[in-house]
Amino acid sequence: MGITDCHVDFPVLERQIDGQQITYLDNAATSLKPRSVIDAMSNYYSQNGANIHRGKYYLSEEASDSYERVRYSIAKYLGAFGNEIVFTKNATEALNLVAYGLDLKSDDIVIGFLDSHHAQILPWRRFANLKLVNLDGEGSIDLDHYHELLRLKPKVVVLTHCSNVTGTVAPIEQMASAAKEACDAIVVVDAAQSIPHPHLRIDVSKLEVDFIAFSGHKMMGPTGVGCLYGKSSMLDQLRPLMLGGGMVDWVDEVSSQERKIPHRFEAGTPPIASTLGLGEAFSYLLNFSKEDSLDHSQALTEAIIKGALERDYLQLLGTKKSINRCAIGSLSIQGCDDLSDIARALSDSYGIMCRTGHMCAQPVVDNQMNGEILRVSAYLYNTPAEIDRFYKALDELVSFFGLQEL
Ligand SMILES: Cc1ncc(COP(=O)(O)O)c(C=O)c1O
Repeated sequence: MGITDCHVDFPVLERQIDGQQITYLDNAATSLKPRSVIDAMSNYYSQNGANIHRGKYYLSEEASDSYERVRYSIAKYLGAFGNEIVFTKNATEALNLVAYGLDLKSDDIVIGFLDSHHAQILPWRRFANLKLVNLDGEGSIDLDHYHELLRLKPKVVVLTHCSNVTGTVAPIEQMASAAKEACDAIVVVDAAQSIPHPHLRIDVSKLEVDFIAFSGHKMMGPTGVGCLYGKSSMLDQLRPLMLGGGMVDWVDEVSSQERKIPHRFEAGTPPIASTLGLGEAFSYLLNFSKEDSLDHSQALTEAIIKGALERDYLQLLGTKKSINRCAIGSLSIQGCDDLSDIARALSDSYGIMCRTGHMCAQPVVDNQMNGEILRVSAYLYNTPAEIDRFYKALDELVSFFGLQEL
């Protein structure tokens, strides 16, 4: 199965709303799920349903084995060891776990990006002194400014592999090595937007990284489950965010003994069905080669950039080059302060689903666009024709709302 026909695997795309086919262009928020992921979850509930790591009976041991197999398949995907994969609720929880668990002091310097997601900015700012790397004149990360900030000897450097607003893919290999060389900083990668793409797959044996955070739901997996990869020596030093059942070896009346990594970070009953679905999502991604994924992503990115540059009434945030960029386009419309009417009309009159707002990255949106944006984000099952369709619909709506004489 290739990328061109993979849309048949996504039941939602068979749905019509008011007789219209759906064009789903909000993939940076969350992706659709292939049938195999949905089946894995439903199969757990219809055939097993037991809790994991608790009972010694057949169903519980079967569920535990399936759950742990997912951990090992993710480890294999990243070139890591099984005990370096911690299941979390999502990327947000994974990032909070690291920011909290490192026991930072308020004057410890942490470097993030101006276009970081709030899931990074808020936890790092709570626990340390966060400095943000600016964007350069093209809208990519300003490497000169990054090197300048490294002179402050940060304790932690948080690299957003792919921005959910500009779509820029940062040179994380180069940036991670520079951080290690400058001050042996702890390197954290936010891979929420990159892990969905086979061509951006990270191999931890080749990258000087200590932690990687991502969510399952943006990479065709279910909501409710995400991951933190942590180098075992780093996870060993991390303080758990949550305490409770499943993360201790024993508890007496006054003390307790925590389990080894990764289990001491997984207190309470986890989302078992979602985790099994996540395992299927990783298997599904293995259907696509890095080359095909890159070609497809570039074709979608070119369509997004071309459509924006052809229209005087649009401003596109970020670089106008399609290399090192994912198919995410954040747009502002001249003369239009409230984009929500446009998004609703795109949905209701054309079946086109895309997002408006600050994309949980308000510092960069305010800094570069002066207000809210309309974001289109495309994925493996989208086509450049759908991007063209989006722009044609936008032309009609902009004309209809009297925002521009066409
Ligand atoms: C770059 C980036 N980091 C982190 C997150 C947070 O992901 P989640 O909401 O799944 O925790 C997102 C979500 O949009 C994101 O785009």
